[in-house]
Amino acid sequence: MKSIILVGGEGTRLRPLTYQTPKQMLPLVGVPMIECVLETLAKHGVTDAVLALGYLPDRFIEAYPSGVISGVNVTYVTEPEPLDTSGAIRFAATFADIKETFLVINGDVLTALNISKLIEFHHSHGAEATIALHPVEDPSRFGVVPTAPDGRVIAFVEKPPRDEAPTNLINAGTYVFEPSVLDKIASSGRVSVERDTFPALAAAGSLYAMPDDAYWIDTGTPQAFLQASVDVLEGRYAVRAVSGIADGAWIHPSATVDPSAVVTTSVVDRNCVVGANVVLDHAVLLPGAVVQVGAKVRSSIIGPSAVIGSYSVLGATCVVGANVIVAPESQLSGDVRLGGV
Ligand code: GDD
Ligand code: MG
Repeated sequence: MKSIILVGGEGTRLRPLTYQTPKQMLPLVGVPMIECVLETLAKHGVTDAVLALGYLPDRFIEAYPSGVISGVNVTYVTEPEPLDTSGAIRFAATFADIKETFLVINGDVLTALNISKLIEFHHSHGAEATIALHPVEDPSRFGVVPTAPDGRVIAFVEKPPRDEAPTNLINAGTYVFEPSVLDKIASSGRVSVERDTFPALAAAGSLYAMPDDAYWIDTGTPQAFLQASVDVLEGRYAVRAVSGIADGAWIHPSATVDPSAVVTTSVVDRNCVVGANVVLDHAVLLPGAVVQVGAKVRSSIIGPSAVIGSYSVLGATCVVGANVIVAPESQLSGDVRLGGV
């Protein structure tokens, strides 16, 4: 079955990290997220995928010039302008000449969803499109999907206020589509699958949804990216087994960590340098980041080659952009974003 992976968003909630690197190319415990996503698909027998690119497309193409990612043969399709989710699906499907049932995946989601079961559900219900659902505590960040007892979607409400959400079952970003859906997407301009296509299919009664409570996370905010990293470290995202974890921390062999540093539940990626008496807790250090003597970093993401000055204290939740230098003895906490384009 052919698959379209949506990876063309700008990743605004993960800025400044996403100014240089598209969200799905950010390393998650040392491996770009897109590899994790395609590894899951490969496990369900997917051999070919179309990567629907828009934002910083060359970062994907240059990283995988052979067009094989996690064993899946990938075709790159770049939109001339952002077409939004449905526009991107139609553009990619036309390019790949898709004429049979196909899969669509939000490329920033990690999940242990049983895709084969979703495809079976789709066929057995005679659906035109089927959405995987996942229960969450706060549905207001997501597409909320009330269904009838037989799984037919009654409505699709994108990001409603929390107290107006009709259910806590949300769109998990994995879909099965019949090609007939493509004819219902306008052939130019921006079209949203969440705001245009799904509401129209729901009104026509041809949209179904299957709840599933397997592991699931949308990595698109700093808090969620940190949580996804911790989930990989602690084995909750079982699809990816990582070796070399000690005390809940993963330290790349090329990193230099002073023996007096205390590193718990953290990621220290390639070529990072961690000085004496540093404390890292629920921290993610991206390649080449430096944390100088005595600094404490908790629940924060330190971008590539950024430098955290000595005796600084960074608390939940700082995102430090690539190459940013934080002065010694800085004190930063709250929703901090350091660094521009
Ligand atoms: N090619 C392309 N073109 N891809 C796009 C575009 C575009 O114009 N816009 C967004 N994308 C990609 C993003 O890169 C991401 O992988 C995916 O589409 C979803 O976009 P997000 O920006 O991450 O959306 P969201 O997280 O706010 O909400 C979506 O995902 C939730 C579940 O993870 C919606 O689908 C919600 O309904 C859903 O609950
Ligand atoms: Mg998302």
